[in-house]
Amino acid sequence: MGKRQAIGSITVLSVAILWIMASLQGQEPEESRRTKQPLPQSNQFQSSENFAKTSGNLQRYQGTGSCSAVACHGGVGRKDCDQPGAADIWKSEYTVWMTDDPHSRAFSILYDDLATQIATNLAQGGQPTPAWQDVRCLSCHTLPRSESELAATTRFNADGVGCESCHGPASEWIGQHTTTTWKLLDAQTKERDYQFTNTKNLVKRTEVCTGCHVGKRGDAGVLDRDMNHDMIAAGHPRLAFEMASYSDLQANHWCEKPEKWTDTPTIPTPSPNERNAWLWATGRLVTAASSLELSASRAESKTAPWPEFSENNCYSCHQELTAEPAKRKLKGELAGRPAWGSWFMTDINPLIRNSPSDIKPRLEMMESLQKLMQLPLPDRQKVTTLSRSLSLQFKEQAFIRNESGISLQESKRILDQNLGKNLDLAPKAWDHEALRYLTISALARSHDKKLMTPEVQDQIELLKVRLQTPAGASSGSHEK
Ligand code: HEC
Ligand code: HEC
Ligand code: HEC
Ligand code: HEC
Repeated sequence: MGKRQAIGSITVLSVAILWIMASLQGQEPEESRRTKQPLPQSNQFQSSENFAKTSGNLQRYQGTGSCSAVACHGGVGRKDCDQPGAADIWKSEYTVWMTDDPHSRAFSILYDDLATQIATNLAQGGQPTPAWQDVRCLSCHTLPRSESELAATTRFNADGVGCESCHGPASEWIGQHTTTTWKLLDAQTKERDYQFTNTKNLVKRTEVCTGCHVGKRGDAGVLDRDMNHDMIAAGHPRLAFEMASYSDLQANHWCEKPEKWTDTPTIPTPSPNERNAWLWATGRLVTAASSLELSASRAESKTAPWPEFSENNCYSCHQELTAEPAKRKLKGELAGRPAWGSWFMTDINPLIRNSPSDIKPRLEMMESLQKLMQLPLPDRQKVTTLSRSLSLQFKEQAFIRNESGISLQESKRILDQNLGKNLDLAPKAWDHEALRYLTISALARSHDKKLMTPEVQDQIELLKVRLQTPAGASSGSHEK
C-alpha cells in the first residue's frame, strides 16, 4: 500500500497547486503574468482524402485484439517469478494488462469528469473538443501514431495504451514471433529488422516510457506528445516520472531477465532483485536526457508556448500567501526567478561516470543552461543547442551506467548522502524531497534489502507523511 500512496501524492501535486491558487483568491501573483499565448489548434482528424495521400504504411499497427486469444496472451493469472519455469512467456499478458495495468484504462478515462473539465478549461469559453477526440490527448492516451494513422485506425483507440505502444508496431513481426526461428534471433536484430522494440534493455525500455511520461515532440511519424503548463493549468496532473517506482506500479506481465538488461552480457549477471537500483540509476539519466530533448524541441518549435512553465519548479511561482514566504533557496536558483529543472535535474550529477576532465565542461554547460532558463525570455536558439547537446551526453551516460548498474557500495554511499540531509521541507523543496524519497526507497529495496536498516525505514515513513498534500487540498479524484 505504501509506495502506491506515495506515488499518488506526487500525482496529486497539481491538485495541491489548485488549492494554493484558490487561496490566492484571484490576486495577481508577484511574477508578471505571462501574456496569453494562443493555444495550439486542437486539430480534428484529417479528412480521409488527406490521409490516403500520406505515404507510408498506415496499417503498421495490428491492435491489442490481435494478441488477446487465450492460446496467445489471454491465458489466466499472474505468475510467481520465484517458481521454476515462470520466467518463460506467461501467455496471460493480455489478462494482466486488462485487469491490473493502468494503461488499459488510458482511453476510457478520457470520458471521466476530470478529462471533461480539462477539455472545457482548454476551450477557454469556446466549444470544447471532447478529450476522447482531441489529438492532444489521444497522442499519449492511445497507441502513439501519426495523425493520418490515427484517423485510419480510430478503432484501436479504445485499447488505450495497448501492447504495441511499448512493444512496437506488430505488422512486421506478428507472423514471425511465434516461430522457433524467432526465438533464435537476438533482441537487437528483432528491433532493427522487425520494429520489435527492445524493452529488455533498460535504456530502451525507459525511453519507451518517457515518450509519454515525460513527453516527446516531433518524433518521426508520431504526433507531438507534450504536457505543457496550459494543460496542467487546465487540470492535468503534472508528469513527475521516476522509472523504478513507476515500474513497480505498472504490474509486471513478465519475469525480469537481468542478463538482457544491457546489449552486452554483464559479468556477473545481476540478480533480479537489483532491478529497482538499476532502473532508478539508468532511469534518471534517460529521463533527464528525454526532458532535455523535449526542452530543445519546445525551444525550436514555432507553436509551443515559450518559456514553458512546466519545466520550472511549480512552487517558485505558486506559493501560499498566508504562510511565511519560503526562504529556502534551491541550488543554482537566482533570487526572484523560477528554478528550472527541479524534477529532472536535481542530484543527477553523482550518476555520471565520466572522467574528471570530461565532467568540467559538462557542468559548465549545465550551469549556463540553468542560468539561461531563469531569464524572463530564454534565447530559443541557445537553449536548443545547449539542451540538445546535453541530452546526447546524458543518453550516452545512461548506456555507460547501464552496463554495470549500481553496486551495493555505491548505493550505500548515495543512500547515506540522502539520509544525511535535514528534513527542512520548505514548499519550494518539494521536488527535492520527493526525489530523495524515491531514491531512498529504490536503493534500499534492492541488493536483497541489505540496506533497509531501521533508520532507513524510519526516513521512508517520515518522508511519506511529509510529502502528503495537506488535508482538504485534494478534490479526491486523484487520491490513489
Ligand atoms: C505527454 C503525454 C500526455 C498528454 C499529451 C496527455 N496526457 Fe493525460 N496523462 C498522461 C500520463 C502519463 C498520465 C498519468 C500520470 C501519472 O499518474 O503520473 C495521465 C493522466 C491523465 C488523467 C488521469 C488523472 C488521474 O490520475 O485521475 C486524465 C483524466 C488525463 N490524463 C486526461 C488527459 C486529457 C484530457 C488530455 C488532453 C487535453 C491529456 N490527458 C493529454 C499523459 C498525457
Ligand atoms: C507500458 C508498456 C507495456 C505494455 C502496454 C505492454 N507491455 Fe509487455 N512488456 C513490457 C516490458 C517493459 C516488458 C519486460 C521486458 C521484456 O521482456 O521485453 C514486457 C514483457 C512482455 C512479455 C515477455 C517477454 C519475454 O521475453 O519474457 C510479453 C510476452 C509481453 N510483454 C506481451 C505483452 C502483451 C500481449 C501486451 C498487451 C496486452 C503487452 N505486453 C503490453 C512493457 C509493456
Ligand atoms: C503511449 C503512452 C504511454 C507509454 C509508452 C507508457 N505509459 Fe504509462 N501511462 C500512460 C497514460 C496515459 C497513463 C494514465 C492512465 C490512467 O491513469 O489510467 C499511464 C499510467 C501509468 C501508471 C499509473 C500511474 C499512477 O498514477 O497510478 C504507471 C505506473 C505507468 N504508466 C508506468 C509506465 C511505465 C513503467 C512505462 C514504460 C515501460 C509506461 N508507463 C509507458 C501512457 C503511457
Ligand atoms: C513562471 C511561473 C509559473 C510556474 C513555474 C508554474 N506556474 Fe502554474 N501558473 C502560473 C500563472 C501565471 C498561472 C495563471 C495563468 C495561467 O493559467 O496560465 C498559473 C496557473 C496554474 C494553474 C491553474 C490555477 C487556476 O486556478 O486556474 C495550475 C493548476 C498550475 N498553474 C499548476 C502548475 C504546476 C503543477 C506547475 C509546475 C509543473 C506550475 N504551475 C508552474 C505561473 C507559473
